[in-house]
Amino acid sequence: MRQLADESEDLLSPEAVADPHAYFGQLRSRDAIHWNPLWNGWIVTRHKDVTSILLDHERFSSDRMGYLDSHASDEKKESLKALYSIISLGLPFIDPPDHTRLRLLHQRASFTPGQLASWRPRVQAIVDDLLDSLEPEQPVDFIEALSFPLPMLVTGEIIGFPAEDRDQVRHWTQEVALSTFVARMDAGEKRARAEAAAKDFMEYTLSLIRARRAEPRDDLLTAFVNAEHEGDLLSEEEIVSNIILLMIAGHETTSNLLANGLLAFIRNPAQIDLVRRDGLMIGAAVEECLRFDPPVKATTRWAKIDVEMDGRTMKAEQKILLALASANRDPEQFPDPDRFDITRRLTPQQHTSFVVGIHYCLGAPLARIEAEVTYTSLFERFSSIELASEDLEYKPSAISRSLTALPVVMS
Ligand code: HEM
Repeated sequence: MRQLADESEDLLSPEAVADPHAYFGQLRSRDAIHWNPLWNGWIVTRHKDVTSILLDHERFSSDRMGYLDSHASDEKKESLKALYSIISLGLPFIDPPDHTRLRLLHQRASFTPGQLASWRPRVQAIVDDLLDSLEPEQPVDFIEALSFPLPMLVTGEIIGFPAEDRDQVRHWTQEVALSTFVARMDAGEKRARAEAAAKDFMEYTLSLIRARRAEPRDDLLTAFVNAEHEGDLLSEEEIVSNIILLMIAGHETTSNLLANGLLAFIRNPAQIDLVRRDGLMIGAAVEECLRFDPPVKATTRWAKIDVEMDGRTMKAEQKILLALASANRDPEQFPDPDRFDITRRLTPQQHTSFVVGIHYCLGAPLARIEAEVTYTSLFERFSSIELASEDLEYKPSAISRSLTALPVVMS
């Protein structure tokens, strides 16, 4: 096992945050299954290893709560009670058989690709509204103007949060997400804010669920209340937890896709011309955006038992960071992987941006629609889209690939 200099073990070093592709790429060629003493876990960077772990839910667990339960102090657990109760019932954080049951009920509750596709006209209307309010030829932060509000508006509407509560829901979503997506902030403050928001958000969502029971509507809250499989229903706690997690899972991720993808297009304008010439290429273009600079650059699992892999032993209870961004740039899987090329014939599950296997992102069809509609509309409306500044920064996170701002001028 190759030991790296201490500073290069820091997943949050300025270099690793600015360019995770170079950071993980170096690991992939030198020590593809790497023990990181600072993070106290394994970093896995090759496409074949990342996918084989994702597909092996028998030996690798997603139950991060179970992991925390045996590793966090009692004080930490106590200070994060509401947050833990959300996570412990959430689809991304549980293993079969509980996961199988909950995922089936989610699908019954209208989370099928066909039902999500019916949202395309509404997504188009929201994108049009947001673009109408932009001033052409003036520098604008694309994230503030479009990529941040769009997924919040779309997911909030699908769920059925009343429009007048939009700002409150947005605030809670961001506060609860602090615990997952934001590093380099005082841990005590982060916990206190996330916990306070989690409590209020849970209470509010519970009151909406009870209202829908009395008076059903055409929204996801009602669909969750009524979702049934062979007499099995979702409990109120399960609905609350999974509704809140949908807001979090669908927000920053989609926002990152829209912004990271636009940046890739701006830096490769010939690819924009390809989409302008043949609008049908937009689906392939979005897959390439997902591969090239994934919104979620890594996810985690932990080993349930000792597992041998490529001469390394991942011991039971050790945690593992699966570098999705690195799997997507593995030259053994993708020729010339550092080139942004929308003419690659990617199959939707070839890249790992939505993972593979039983936890495959349930919102993937919706995220794809939001990206297709956004880019198509932008490229139709504006003949020129340029960066207003080359000075770009990413939020310090080992998981999320989020620009702090994307200043552009469109005309
Ligand atoms: C580009 C946008 C998105 C990306 C990159 C993304 C990425 C991911 C990833 C990587 C996972 C797997 C996590 C793991 O197993 O470790 C996941 C799961 C999930 N995502 Fe997404 N997501 C996106 C958008 C959405 C949207 C819009 C929704 C819903 C509104 C959503 C809902 C979910 C749910 C419910 C799961 C859990 C599935 C399961 O565990 O069975 N996601 N997503």
